[in-house]
Amino acid sequence: MTDQTSRKIVLASRPQGRPTAENFRLETAPIPKPAEGEVLVQVKFLSLDPYMRGRMSDAKSYAEPVQIGQVMEGGTVAEVLESRDSNFKQGDIVLAYAGWQSHAVVKGKALRKIDTGSEPVSTALGVLGMPGFTAFAGLLTIGQPKPGETVVVAAATGPVGSAVGQIAKIKGARAVGIAGGPKKVAGLRYTFGFDVALDHKAPDFAEQLKQACPDGIDVYFENVGGAVWEAVLPLLNNFARVPVCGLVSGYNAQGGVAEGPDRMPGLMRDVLTKRLTIRGFIQTDFKDQMPQFAKEMKAWLEDGSVKYVEDVVDGLENAPEAFIGLLDGKNFGKLVIKVS
Ligand SMILES: NC(=O)c1ccc[n+]([C@@H]2O[C@H](COP(=O)([O-])OP(=O)(O)OC[C@H]3O[C@@H](n4cnc5c(N)ncnc54)[C@H](OP(=O)(O)O)[C@@H]3O)[C@@H](O)[C@H]2O)c1
Repeated sequence: MTDQTSRKIVLASRPQGRPTAENFRLETAPIPKPAEGEVLVQVKFLSLDPYMRGRMSDAKSYAEPVQIGQVMEGGTVAEVLESRDSNFKQGDIVLAYAGWQSHAVVKGKALRKIDTGSEPVSTALGVLGMPGFTAFAGLLTIGQPKPGETVVVAAATGPVGSAVGQIAKIKGARAVGIAGGPKKVAGLRYTFGFDVALDHKAPDFAEQLKQACPDGIDVYFENVGGAVWEAVLPLLNNFARVPVCGLVSGYNAQGGVAEGPDRMPGLMRDVLTKRLTIRGFIQTDFKDQMPQFAKEMKAWLEDGSVKYVEDVVDGLENAPEAFIGLLDGKNFGKLVIKVS
């Protein structure tokens, strides 16, 4: 593509609850020029991820919020158009934190050349990228599944959850996947090979989960929180491990803690008497494990023990709607925007 202008989606306003199209604005600008040590890239694929909801809010978190009028943040796969860093040349395909835009000038130091082997370059944003790594590091370091144990994960057709279930199986555990709606439940069984697939929207979901875990739960990889967590907690075994990765059911919630009885004493009693390990993590905590992850995940893709699904939406202008849908569960598999 030889566009002479760059397109970008900026944060127009902060959402109250569920984001709307009005929270985003599409702008155009001249294509920027790189200075010494910088590289001009054209974005090919933009990753859309649940964490971006947090960046739209100015509530205190582990990362700084996007400011009003700033380009929305995001990981991308991009092509080098012009380089003033000797480590990169025109045509290189790189991983860049370029955000929701068609072109960006980025520091060469912040770029990484992509090697996805025989897989498409977009997988550097999914199974071979941040979400796959999150599953690998969180499950193996904190969850530590053992042969014969039961591992439960929700948002299980997503890039994190689907990798969690499949890695659990590789380690000899029994994988119970939870997703929303019949199409996703079928995908859990037939695409990703979960031993059991459950729909969290079923009215008797908690009972179904109990039936599906006759020996209790040894590892619960927490992606969603809310009603799924409520159903899981009573089923956790002694010495169960809970890597707390995300709480997507609450990302659009407004206000503070939900009303109702204070359940903290009961939770702490369970933590003590069942000797639970509940540990939150951000994937960058484990960045030392990235080379090991890249090696192992590539081998699993090659031998077929890990499968992935990409949900590719065409056009940068469609990113807001696709992102809003992600938080509602409309995506099936890793959501990426094909930008150019
Ligand atoms: N800690 C870290 O470093 C880190 C890194 C990456 C991702 N994460 C977290 O990992 C989780 C999964 O990320 P992902 O990229 O793989 O997302 P994803 O699964 O592609 O998308 C989010 C999914 O959440 C599910 N969901 C939404 N509301 C729900 C609810 N009320 N109850 C149950 N499920 C609900 C939906 O699936 P269904 O239709 O199946 O319900 C939706 O498709 C997120 O919480 C994310 O924030 C954390």
